[in-house]
Amino acid sequence: MKKIPVVAVVGATGAVGREMLDTLVRRNFPHAEVRALASSRSAGTQVEFGSKKLTVQELTEDSFAGVDLALFSAGGSTSEKFAPCAVKSGCVVVDNSSAWRMDPAVPLVVPEVNPGDLSWHKGIIANPNCSTIQMVVALKPLHDVARIKRVVVSTYQAVSGTGQKAIVELENQVRQLFNGQEATNSVYPHRIAFNCLPQIDVFLDNEYTKEEMKMVLETKKIMGDDSIRVTATTVRVPVFYGHSESVNIETEKKITSKEARAILSQAPGVRVFDNPGEKIYPMPIVAAGEDDTFVGRIREDESIENGLNMFVVADNIRKGAALNAVQIAEVLLERGLLRVP
Ligand code: A2P
Repeated sequence: MKKIPVVAVVGATGAVGREMLDTLVRRNFPHAEVRALASSRSAGTQVEFGSKKLTVQELTEDSFAGVDLALFSAGGSTSEKFAPCAVKSGCVVVDNSSAWRMDPAVPLVVPEVNPGDLSWHKGIIANPNCSTIQMVVALKPLHDVARIKRVVVSTYQAVSGTGQKAIVELENQVRQLFNGQEATNSVYPHRIAFNCLPQIDVFLDNEYTKEEMKMVLETKKIMGDDSIRVTATTVRVPVFYGHSESVNIETEKKITSKEARAILSQAPGVRVFDNPGEKIYPMPIVAAGEDDTFVGRIREDESIENGLNMFVVADNIRKGAALNAVQIAEVLLERGLLRVP
């Protein structure tokens, strides 16, 4: 009989950590015990785990004794410091930060796209960037049929992607503005309420942001195809939950919008939501609280021979983070890979 794992959630008090706990409950992930870990600031507080409450423990190097699986979502520096300690004590880590994603020795996995990459993990598996996850879920089935040569993506990303502090900042700014006060900001460089910020993360030497380059580089790694050209513009919008993306693709082989709809309606994790005549198309208020990646506004790009446009929306905290991490854990368990080789 397979061993029932002891699970730790690192960053259990955060927006993604709480969703990880909920997802473990919702999907009946087998567990002998679940530990909630966070910083010393929240040690002793409680977080919900289904009908139970877990007391948060401070994350230390000794937190992983007897733990089989750790889901990390506590920022890159915490992962850099503590994921290796976890692996050393025999625990498999699924890490939601960007710390290990581009490490050639670490698989970067979306279970609908490249579950096979889990077979070569050495203890750490990286969960991709939220915007990348939902995009590749929609791209892979089209790539398999028509080979995607180029992707042009523009995003409209929710504040929850920045974490709990950003959710509170948007709430506070809306309240301040409605009360005739000046909006104060500390998380974002400008006001986010009733505004759009064409900056997510820091600017790099090539004038792109780090978020934009994550979409470029992670897409190639997950799809296992360096020849796909990707360019991205990532924008933060005043939405709480649900990232939206306008995605334009150029393919080697022609696919019509009707064919694309048929392909995507068979694809795992995708819900085709595309009936413009009835005003049915993906929106954050449709995707929030759902597991699927919604795809709609599918239409042929009339400016090139073989091109398609589509609008892709998913819950960034679910498929973009917690759900994808738990799905990775499910595949590890199913395939007997929940062990440090
Ligand atoms: P804490 O609440 O104790 O600060 P979010 O992305 O929503 O901001 O959440 C970040 C999560 O990462 C929180 O659970 C936070 O815990 C946790 N965290 C941040 N820094 C550390 C750290 N140095 N050690 C452990 N957990 C951390």
